[in-house]
Amino acid sequence: MPPIDATPGTGTMPYRNTREHWGHVSIALHWLTAVLVLGLLLVGFLMESLPNTPFKREVYVWHKSFGLIVGALTLLRIGWRLAQPSPRLPAEMARWKRYAARAGHAGLYLLLLLMPVSGALYNYASNFRTPLFDLVLLERAGSIDRELRAVAGAIHEWAAWALVALLLAHAAAALSHHYRWKDRVLHRMAPWIKPPT
Ligand code: HEM
Repeated sequence: MPPIDATPGTGTMPYRNTREHWGHVSIALHWLTAVLVLGLLLVGFLMESLPNTPFKREVYVWHKSFGLIVGALTLLRIGWRLAQPSPRLPAEMARWKRYAARAGHAGLYLLLLLMPVSGALYNYASNFRTPLFDLVLLERAGSIDRELRAVAGAIHEWAAWALVALLLAHAAAALSHHYRWKDRVLHRMAPWIKPPT
């Protein structure tokens, strides 16, 4: 097998990050998380108003299971991110924009952890099992903990709205990089989108 050429600008992409490129693993984790989180937010906001049928119970199990998967993927992603360099932002970017980008990414990681943790606590305090699809990860607590349920429920809801706001800002920034500032920041996370000319 020929050796993989990881030289920037040669058209090949290694699985690890470099100072110029996101590797395959980071790109896959980013877009897998994006699809799961958008689905979880949509289902999360709608599922309470579903009619009380066995289907509603199924939807709750999917929401809880995929939420736990996002938590695990986020831990994996943070570990992978810290274990190697990550691409530099364009040198011409104003310093405050770089700080804003870093703070925004840190906020996203924080919320991606806070959502599953508060959701799992809310579920446990409500005296429900913690499921991973057909598996039971944790049995019911045995009684309802009203105080914990109120706090964890409020955190889960407010963190969801904060995540929506941060995601809108995040997507707007990514599109501005591509269409306004015409740099390669969106292209390197979404290589199927042509770089601006
Ligand atoms: C639920 C949806 C999403 C989540 C949770 C998410 C989360 C993140 C996080 C945490 C990072 C930081 C990577 C790091 O520096 O370690 C990142 C980077 C990035 N995201 Fe997203 N993202 C989402 C959706 C999107 C969308 C829709 C776009 C494009 C319109 C996008 C474009 C980008 C780009 C271009 C970067 C790389 C920035 C750079 O090179 O420094 N993301 N994303």
